[in-house]
Amino acid sequence: MESTTDKNAAVGTWHAYERTSTSIPATVDARARAFHESLNDYKATALIDLPALAAELSIGRVVAKDESTRLGLPAFKALGASWAIHRATEGLSGPLTIVTATDGNHGRAVARFARTLGHSVSIFTPDGVHPSAVQAIRDEGARVQEVGGSYDDAVAAAASAATAPGHVLVQDTAWEGYEKIPGWIVDGYATLFAEADEQLIALTAGSASVDLVLVPTGVGSLLQAALTHYRSAGDARVVSVEPTEAACIAPSIDAGEPVTVETGVTVMSGLNCGTPSLLAWPLIRDGLDGAMSLDDEDAIRAAHDLASLSVAAGPCGGSGLAAARLLLTGDGAASRRWHLGIDSSSTLLLIITEGSDANPLPS
Ligand SMILES: Cc1ncc(COP(=O)(O)O)c(C=O)c1O
Repeated sequence: MESTTDKNAAVGTWHAYERTSTSIPATVDARARAFHESLNDYKATALIDLPALAAELSIGRVVAKDESTRLGLPAFKALGASWAIHRATEGLSGPLTIVTATDGNHGRAVARFARTLGHSVSIFTPDGVHPSAVQAIRDEGARVQEVGGSYDDAVAAAASAATAPGHVLVQDTAWEGYEKIPGWIVDGYATLFAEADEQLIALTAGSASVDLVLVPTGVGSLLQAALTHYRSAGDARVVSVEPTEAACIAPSIDAGEPVTVETGVTVMSGLNCGTPSLLAWPLIRDGLDGAMSLDDEDAIRAAHDLASLSVAAGPCGGSGLAAARLLLTGDGAASRRWHLGIDSSSTLLLIITEGSDANPLPS
């Protein structure tokens, strides 16, 4: 993949990529959406039109998919966990323990849906998960082991615990030999993009489609769902957004394979992952249009600005707007806009992946 890099501190770190393939082998399993629609708490999350942000960014429209209330939980992760637990436990009998590692939202969702089905739950957390997020997982009835270290360390601890009889690992990242369940999680995330398309058609009477989507990225499973969707329906530009302290996408593209970076401390704890998912990797390598990494203060400011527009975003939820500002305005914006095919009529989709209830927002 050809790339150019812009390391101006005022614009975060921006890497522009040329796609090497437009054919996406992955397909969406429509049964996941039907399953979500069958759940008691199901309701499509809101797609919010934000004209003030469109004016600020000099584009046609900004819409935000607000995942702060998804299936009764404050983050999009409920979509993947619910469907994957349903699939992974189908046909299994006997008392089961569902195991996972989490930096907060995924674990809470796993705990909720596994407990609903009557399973025990064992969750492993790394350093840097807010105490209130850990408590929220315990409140779902899960046993939480705070193993410390990085997210990858917690994943290793969970994978090891899950080798016990009657234990099932429901992890939202894939590695060699562990791909089926993370694939179901990504299938679950597809519901978000399908809803957004339909809502945008309804909002604009079919006159607009998504031109650019900025995807808060940890291991890249949500990014995988975005790439799968927009490479098979429409042609939106897809850009990953990561904290500077855990930016593994650009180094992986540079290396030509998924690499692990050392992670630091970030308020965007849901994005604090150092290794891309193996399943997401081919789509990222061949189809990503750019990667942006940014600092906590930008995400926090963006989340507060969203709150003033009545969108209650947590820090990860604010990262997309922060990236949009860094990308589409300021020095060098013309060439970044040109690369992304963005003009004054374009439509930007922000994904508010978590609400402020999921992760407290520093002032
Ligand atoms: C709030 C939030 N946003 C985005 C993500 C990133 O998703 P992924 O790890 O699939 O890239 C996560 C993952 O935990 C998250 O919790």
